[in-house]
This record gives sequence, C-alpha cells and structure tokens, in this order.
Amino acid sequence: MKRGKFAILLVAVLLTAAACHYDWIAAEAAAPIDPDQEVSFSATILPLFSENCTSCHKGGGVAPNLTPESAYSQISTSKYINTGSPGQSLIYRAVAPGMSLPGHKTLTSSQAALLLAWISQGAQNN
Ligand code: HEC
Repeated sequence: MKRGKFAILLVAVLLTAAACHYDWIAAEAAAPIDPDQEVSFSATILPLFSENCTSCHKGGGVAPNLTPESAYSQISTSKYINTGSPGQSLIYRAVAPGMSLPGHKTLTSSQAALLLAWISQGAQNN
C-alpha cells in the first residue's frame, strides 16, 4: 500500500517535470515572436524560403517546390502542415534546429520560430 502511494507520487512528480520541460521548450522557441503579431506568408515566409531553400527546392529540383509561385500550393497539405500540432509539421521539422533532417539545411531558431508561428496561426496564404 505504501509503495503504491509512493509510485503514484513519483509518477505525478515526473509528469509535472515533463510538463515544465515542454513549456520551457515552447517558450524558448516562441521567444523572438510577439504572439499577437501575425506572420505573413508573402512578406515573411516566402523570402525565408527564397533565401534558404529554393536553391534545392525549385521546379525540377527536390520536392516540395518552395519558389514563390508554387510554395503555398505545394505545402498546404497534411503531409507538410499540421495546424493541430504545428510542431509536428514536416515543413517545420525538416529544418528546425535540433530536429532537422540529417545533413539538411537548418534554420536559425528565430527563423524556425517564425515558420512555427505562421503554422500556429493557421498556415494562411496571407
Ligand atoms: C542544399 C539543398 C537543400 C536546401 C538548401 C534545402 N533542402 Fe530541403 N531537402 C533537400 C533534400 C536533398 C531533401 C530530401 C531528403 C533528405 O535530405 O532527407 C530535402 C527534404 C526536405 C523536406 C522533406 C520532403 C519530403 O517530402 O519528405 C522538406 C519539408 C524540406 N526539405 C524543406 C526545406 C526547407 C523549408 C528548406 C529551407 C529552409 C530546405 N528544405 C532547404 C535539400 C535541400
């Protein structure tokens, strides 16, 4: 009985610690972004793709095509974007610091935070 109570307490402590850890990561990733400020796809995300991605991700290159004419239609699918769990989106995971594809281009944490904020705000063609 005593051991049972201890086990429950231990699980509670671990879950609390895990919750704090998660909050800390989310807070750090979002730090450079004002949560009330809308991230524009055309003004912010497309230039980020053009500067960092389209040397490879272009027509006739590696999918998805991230050039301005094609990027939105290419990535607005459930394969690349998950607005329910923005951090799970492949377009983010492929390039975010600490989780990017092996040997792949990695964004700075503030660039990645912009991309994540745009997805969190509904991944609109804005
Ligand atoms: C130097 C070339 C290069 C650059 C620059 C590059 N990528 Fe990639 N990317 C690739 C290659 C090659 C792959 C395919 C497989 C791999 O690396 O695992 C890929 C895969 C991906 C995938 C997964 C595609 C899929 O359908 O599975 C995504 C998403 C992606 N890149 C996004 C980006 C974004 C966003 C940027 C810019 C921030 C970027 N890439 C910059 C070469 C590049």
